[in-house]
Amino acid sequence: MNIKNILSEKVSAAMVAAGLPVGTNPAISLSNRPQFGDYQANGVMGAAKKLKTNPRELATKVVAELDLDGIASKIELAGPGFINIHLDQNWLAAQLNTVAQDEHSGVTQRGTGSEDSLQDSLQDKQQTVVVDYSAPNLAKEMHVGHLRSTIIGDAVVRALEFRGDKVIRQNHMGDWGTQFGMLIAHLSDKLASDEVAETALSDLENFYREAKVRFDNEEGFADRARADVVKLQSGDAGSAKLWQQFIDISIAHSEEIYAKLNVSLKRSDIMGESAYNDDLSIVVDELMAKEIAVESQGAKAVFINEMANKDGDAPVLIVQKSGGGFLYATTDLSACRYRSDKLAADRIIIFTDARQSLHFKQVEIVARKAGLLPEHVGYDHCPFGMMMGDDGKPFKTRTGGTIKLAELLDEAISRASDLIKEKNPDIDAAELAALSEKVGIGAVKFADLSKNRTSDYIFSWKTMLSFEGATAPYLQYAYSRIQSIFVKAGVTQTQATIAIIEPQEKALALKLLQLEDVVDAVISECTPNLLCNYLYELASLYMSFYEACPILKEGISDEVKASRLALCQIVAQTLKQGLDILGIEVMDRM
Ligand code: ARG
Repeated sequence: MNIKNILSEKVSAAMVAAGLPVGTNPAISLSNRPQFGDYQANGVMGAAKKLKTNPRELATKVVAELDLDGIASKIELAGPGFINIHLDQNWLAAQLNTVAQDEHSGVTQRGTGSEDSLQDSLQDKQQTVVVDYSAPNLAKEMHVGHLRSTIIGDAVVRALEFRGDKVIRQNHMGDWGTQFGMLIAHLSDKLASDEVAETALSDLENFYREAKVRFDNEEGFADRARADVVKLQSGDAGSAKLWQQFIDISIAHSEEIYAKLNVSLKRSDIMGESAYNDDLSIVVDELMAKEIAVESQGAKAVFINEMANKDGDAPVLIVQKSGGGFLYATTDLSACRYRSDKLAADRIIIFTDARQSLHFKQVEIVARKAGLLPEHVGYDHCPFGMMMGDDGKPFKTRTGGTIKLAELLDEAISRASDLIKEKNPDIDAAELAALSEKVGIGAVKFADLSKNRTSDYIFSWKTMLSFEGATAPYLQYAYSRIQSIFVKAGVTQTQATIAIIEPQEKALALKLLQLEDVVDAVISECTPNLLCNYLYELASLYMSFYEACPILKEGISDEVKASRLALCQIVAQTLKQGLDILGIEVMDRM
């Protein structure tokens, strides 16, 4: 269900009938003021400019051809050639009643293979989308920097799946590289002194620091670490075993965080850097054979002339070091081939912070040239900004250390718990614990997801845990308030027909019918903040409706009451579904 698409089709047909070329963009958008209708078609102006004719006259012709019988109650021509469309309340109600019966809240499923002509359009074809997100470096504990990749990526993944796309999650963990020599050397000493691996690695940050201190200061340790890397890379069984132990325990740490964050990543989604080892020399050989890479000071490198500056200096992407070692970029080139060939991706999406933008731009250029990434496969690196502290500097602990993700999440839960206790002093312990987790984690996630992806943002406990404004608690509260209306009314579910009478009901209906449009925008731009805005607007419109349109009050007819309850129900369902895409849970009582 997408009103914009329905109107686009109708207006396009009218444009063609009025003599405009097929394919002219009708430019349908939501009106920003009710007096301009609910939707506008603004495409005539652009078309008139191209044809050098009078836009107002052209718009008159289009309106004469425009058949919106039963859909619109009024079509108006405004200004130089805007077409304002006022939708018919009965039509809106009918759409809403259909959506109310639909388990996907009216969002059509891609790739269902229906005969319907709308379903055949390109945007309703199922795609295979590889999404690369989270990807912590296992030589270190996951920190707040990985929070954004994990939750933005997971929201986009869920949006894609909700629309019916086939998603292949790829957790491109950093599980390879020179640091692992130092780490396994240190681990091997700990195990030799009878420590078990789980204990030795219970605090990874600490373990890593200890190893680094030994590497920098202890006589002979650095040489051992270097020798261990070579052993590991040449497939030595003992080193491999230590490495595997280290990796397994690190992954378990990440999994605890994923569970706490309500993130859908599983162990089977891990395709770490190490998984590409065997292919790296093959990729480099191919690049050399195709003369895309050249020898440069003993290393093998690609000069990216496409990105040369005005003096002709081109950035260089090194694919093999002079000592023979491979790099982060080599792995990403190999990943391009794996994802397009083996995983049959139509589109690849990668979430990392903005500092890696240049890296992915270079990788894409080289991969396309080398045929590792065919033209038809989309490659979207989606960068995000940094999380800042109140002081506007990168988010750190009071003593300046990096904040561990696990600690941050625990703090969110405990702050939420204080807040809920304050509001319900008599709440029982088990319910408090369950609520605190949903509110605390929801607050952190929503605060992050609701920001424009590419900007830096200030992390503030106070705003994210507020019950006012665009926050998770506000939306969760709106949801639970609807549930309590149902409890009061003594009904659990309603099949009643919705009628739209009051302006607040119409506004709510219009918003409810925009879900598919919003989900599509989230998917194409990888911007979950659009869904956050949408849900906030929906909840706010619901609050206005609730103020203006009594439901259970004395004197309200049974019919009106039933219709309004049904409207409440679909709002609740949409809030729940929308929050679920963001990986945020709702609760019946709050
Ligand atoms: N492990 C990397 C990091 O933390 C992110 C990996 C992103 N994905 C990729 N294909 N390079 O910085």
